[in-house]
Amino acid sequence: MAARYQISGSSSAAISASVESGIRAGDLAPGDALPAVRALAVELGVSPATVAKAYQELRQRGLVVTAGRHGTRVRPRPPVASRRSALMPPPLPGARDVSAGNPDSRLLPPLGPHLAALAAEFRAPGGYAASAVLPELAAAARDRLAADGVPADEITVTGGALDGIERLLAAHLRPGDAVAVEDPGWANLLDLVAALGLRAIGVPVDDEGPTAPGVRAALAAGARALIVTSRAQNPTGAAVSADRATELRTLLAGRADLLLIEDDHAAELARVPLHPLAGATPAWAFVRSVSKPYGPDLRLAVLAGDEATVARVAGRARVGAGWVSTVLQRLVLALWRDPATADLVRRAAESYERRRDGLVDALAARGLAAHGRTGINVWVPVPDETVAVTALRDAGWSVAPGALNRIAAAPGVRITVSTLDEADLGPLADAVARAVRPSPAGFSA
Ligand SMILES: Cc1ncc(COP(=O)(O)O)c(C=O)c1O
Repeated sequence: MAARYQISGSSSAAISASVESGIRAGDLAPGDALPAVRALAVELGVSPATVAKAYQELRQRGLVVTAGRHGTRVRPRPPVASRRSALMPPPLPGARDVSAGNPDSRLLPPLGPHLAALAAEFRAPGGYAASAVLPELAAAARDRLAADGVPADEITVTGGALDGIERLLAAHLRPGDAVAVEDPGWANLLDLVAALGLRAIGVPVDDEGPTAPGVRAALAAGARALIVTSRAQNPTGAAVSADRATELRTLLAGRADLLLIEDDHAAELARVPLHPLAGATPAWAFVRSVSKPYGPDLRLAVLAGDEATVARVAGRARVGAGWVSTVLQRLVLALWRDPATADLVRRAAESYERRRDGLVDALAARGLAAHGRTGINVWVPVPDETVAVTALRDAGWSVAPGALNRIAAAPGVRITVSTLDEADLGPLADAVARAVRPSPAGFSA
């Protein structure tokens, strides 16, 4: 028998968010019984009224049903998608997987020579007191960010972009608070927002980034934080343009009630200039990950921001995980300093651009308007995701359904170009065109 899902939370909002995320993750299945109100209250150390309020909220939203002595159960079809399990049909054996969103492993710089060089110069490892952000890494990050117009006097290091974003949200917001996120947006971020018990408000995106009316509406709806992807927006490839940055900076100027977070995960891979929003609001953070250019397994991002925001993230880390290993920090520094690595990253960026533009052009030639201004993904609007994903799967291509990325945005599928060769582009575009506009089946007049 599967282990019982552990509901957590010390407020009604956190408890209901915990149940919801259990449903979304597939850990709480339709028909599963939730614990009795009193039992859960004892388990969580809260009053029965708090649990009752959480259950009532879930009931009102149609996630659970209470039926007398049968207690409270997950409804047969709760109106939240179970992200991973139900939405992604398993790929057919032999199908090409273009769903994953990973960088091309063939294009990541080799770590071996740098690890060997580090090993050769390694002295006694530092202890707790000696470890923090390496001054040399901080200085190099500052220079790189300043060159892109990001004021980086205050800086810290996190275990990747999502870790940085999680720490920022946890330090500034409380369960139930609203966060404005791009729609469509990064699936992992939507999962994180739900997992933190926050409410996501979708902001429409076009090729130039989040739209100004969308941001305005999110602010009016009470968003306490706004997360903007600078370049290579996932899934649409949007990049914040100079005009959009000016428009958004004006809109956000002086908003002391809003935490502004920028996610520049494409970093050195982006083939368009950065137009940062950094500093438009008093509370801001700019996060730059090394995952895409240098490899997701490095688990490192630099986080710049205003003094108070950076101090909250760094201070909270200090009483928890502590710091990002200085071994990793040294490795990233070595990669940044190596001209041969810079050359490999530049060539990788060109290769992604060729394949991404090639796929967008091949789709356009077949009458399909797809998006992919920067990055490794192409977003194809489709009338029906299930039909498109299933038809492509039957044609030997596993693509990601946009439902993983959407709140209220129109349907689409995401195709990652990392595993594609240029010879694949035509056949894949043909398959997408057929999947989106299936040839009429059955009888014709
Ligand atoms: C929008 C976005 N931000 C950040 C990342 C990378 O995050 P991390 O640094 O946590 O690996 C990704 C990876 O897919 C992404 O799509």
